[in-house]
Amino acid sequence: MYQAPRGTQDVLPEDEKYWRYVEATATRQAELFGYAQIRIPTFEHTPLFVRGVGDTTDIVGKEMYTFDDKGGESLTLRPEATASIMRAYLEHGLASSPQPVKVYFLGSMFRYDRPQAGRYREFHQFDCEVIGDGSPTVDAEVILLAWRFFETLGLRNLTVHLNSIGDRNCRPGYLSILTEHFSLHRDRLCPDCRRRLETNPLRLLDCKNEQCQFAIATAPAGIEHLCEECARHFTALREMLDALDIPVELSPRLVRGLDYYTRTVFEIFPATVGAQSALGGGGRYDGLMEQLGGKPTPGIGFAMGIERVILNIREQGIPVPGIRRAVVYVAHQGDQARVMAMRLADEIRRAGIQCVVGLGARSLKSQLKQANNLGARFAFILGEQEVAEETVTVRNLAESQQWQESRQAAIERLLSTER
Ligand code: HAM
Repeated sequence: MYQAPRGTQDVLPEDEKYWRYVEATATRQAELFGYAQIRIPTFEHTPLFVRGVGDTTDIVGKEMYTFDDKGGESLTLRPEATASIMRAYLEHGLASSPQPVKVYFLGSMFRYDRPQAGRYREFHQFDCEVIGDGSPTVDAEVILLAWRFFETLGLRNLTVHLNSIGDRNCRPGYLSILTEHFSLHRDRLCPDCRRRLETNPLRLLDCKNEQCQFAIATAPAGIEHLCEECARHFTALREMLDALDIPVELSPRLVRGLDYYTRTVFEIFPATVGAQSALGGGGRYDGLMEQLGGKPTPGIGFAMGIERVILNIREQGIPVPGIRRAVVYVAHQGDQARVMAMRLADEIRRAGIQCVVGLGARSLKSQLKQANNLGARFAFILGEQEVAEETVTVRNLAESQQWQESRQAAIERLLSTER
């Protein structure tokens, strides 16, 4: 028996309603805020992610699905969307269109992670990016969009964790203070953190190992070492969030797993906080465009993990609209009626109404049972008598009423009520 590869999942028809609900809400909210949809390739040239995401990150170091194609070119399945969207912005000269460029993306991502609840190797993100405007108002609006997305879904008790990690002016100073601090505790740090101390000291703040927690808890906070401009940006953002009534929690230890961030970073957590439970996160990446060879261009965005959002919707018992499979079910009895039923069903669909016809050699009773299971509103029944009289028996399944009329009249009645 074949099985889906570890860390991948099938979404069976019974679960499709959750995906529809989340994707439709994401699309609706992004479009309410004026974002346009962008679609990007599933794979890119490997150096895009190495440069964009950063070669000292876990994503690039451990988690990328990288392969040589038959032409010998190194390609990588996208582990995230931001670098690709920036590449698209550069490649298509979007800098010459009105700024900022606001785009959203829905699609799968690939990371060779250790699978567990809420953590997969193929997962899906709702990603939003605003490119070309560096003002704190944009940061506030991006966080507002994230907040409204969750609120509209009906999720409750979420917390937005917020931090500023400075920019190229103040970060180097903070990094040396941080390195100095962690060096004092070097012997007690986990092997990963000892390595990070050399390559990426900021990431130490994100270590979940018990042995590193003391050094992390006593580490100097980044927001106390911001330069004047970063501090002003952060204050303006917090004032704006306050005015918008978005509750945020300052998290001086919040750093993100990707290297491109500057200034604002944020993550959104559900009520039950676990190590891997962030529903989404994002931040500003004002240096990324230059990193990828473009002109200095500010940007900010976020990505939500759709699987994690769905897990929380289920956990919180949020009612999700079902997906109707049929408005009309055409049931039939007899050979002539079967042909008639296929034709009638075809006519109903061509009139734009969802219609399922009984297939196989089922009894009328079992066809009507199926009609109920599919949530059909009407059963159109064709038997010998209906065929002879060129009529149809219409049964309103919800109200248990039944009448007979010409097929044309039945379709017209449907059109007047179902459109
Ligand atoms: P990220 O924090 O790496 O950010 O991923 C965003 C979200 O994707 C996470 O909060 C989580 O919900 C989900 N996620 C990540 N890895 C997995 C996994 N293995 N299984 C299931 N869900 C996962 C980014 O990807 C940035 N590109 C976000 C961004 C956009 N920053 C600026 N613009």
